[in-house]
Amino acid sequence: MQEVRLTTPATVANVVCGFDCLGFALAEPFDEMVVRKADVSGIRLVHRDNFGLPTDPNRNVAGVAAAAILKAAEADFGVDIEITKHIKPGSGIGSSAASACAAVVAINELLNDRFTKIELVGFALVGEALASGSRHADNLAPCILGGFTLVRSTYPLDIVKLDFPPLWATIIHPQIEIRTSEARSILPNEVSLKSAVKQWANVGALVAGLSNGDYGLIARSLEDVIVEPVRRSLIHNFNEVKAACLEAGALGGGISGSGPSIFMLSVDRDTAELVQDAMIKVYSLTGIEFSTYVSEIARTGSKIVAGDE
Ligand code: HSE
Repeated sequence: MQEVRLTTPATVANVVCGFDCLGFALAEPFDEMVVRKADVSGIRLVHRDNFGLPTDPNRNVAGVAAAAILKAAEADFGVDIEITKHIKPGSGIGSSAASACAAVVAINELLNDRFTKIELVGFALVGEALASGSRHADNLAPCILGGFTLVRSTYPLDIVKLDFPPLWATIIHPQIEIRTSEARSILPNEVSLKSAVKQWANVGALVAGLSNGDYGLIARSLEDVIVEPVRRSLIHNFNEVKAACLEAGALGGGISGSGPSIFMLSVDRDTAELVQDAMIKVYSLTGIEFSTYVSEIARTGSKIVAGDE
């Protein structure tokens, strides 16, 4: 294998109550990447998009993640990486995770599938740590494994793939940038026992609701008493959007990752589109530019679309 082409999905991390541990993959938007084996060692990187991301491999999440897997494999080749991003950096739907995951999944293919998917998440973590200044895998796990995932531990990596019923996500992405590192810096270091009990009860119930296809339980569990109350002030009209979406039939939702995107879950596409209408109605009054997506939760993560022998 000399060349690998793949797509890698946007992801929603936290999923309201599961800060730093729950996440799911979206069918769209997704990034595209081409990785070619090179006789010369090292990593060369180009972006076929207009986001102005660094092309120095030491400062690019894909470059750093690529270096981690090449080093672990003691690879005797270098790589040329071409990235076409459609997931806007800083949007809160796993843009940096998508870059890191695409690089490691592609290089693993060039290495004849040497590493497990969990090991790939470990290499991608190096890229995510560069982007956000912290080691969390809640975007990376669904980006590689697809579907809904729970990261029980990052040291060592322990990832659970969750069962889930059909679910549609509606996302609104206000065109403001919130840096993950900043959105993390405002969080409290300690929480009250009362809040912690509420939060872990919700995470457990959400996982049970997903597993049993109990939409009522899913809706009741989509509640965050720790992170959302602090971060929602960063997002214009967050409360209004949420209220309008629930009114339109969404099961629930909240801040996607560290924001500014807001996501909502619905039982079917029709409801997800009504929820999209509700988001548009509220946000049109703000004067802030935004984009919206409606997507089923994707059961697959980063996907090889073509390769050359
Ligand atoms: N769990 C992370 C956070 C996701 O909310 O800070 C963003 O990378």
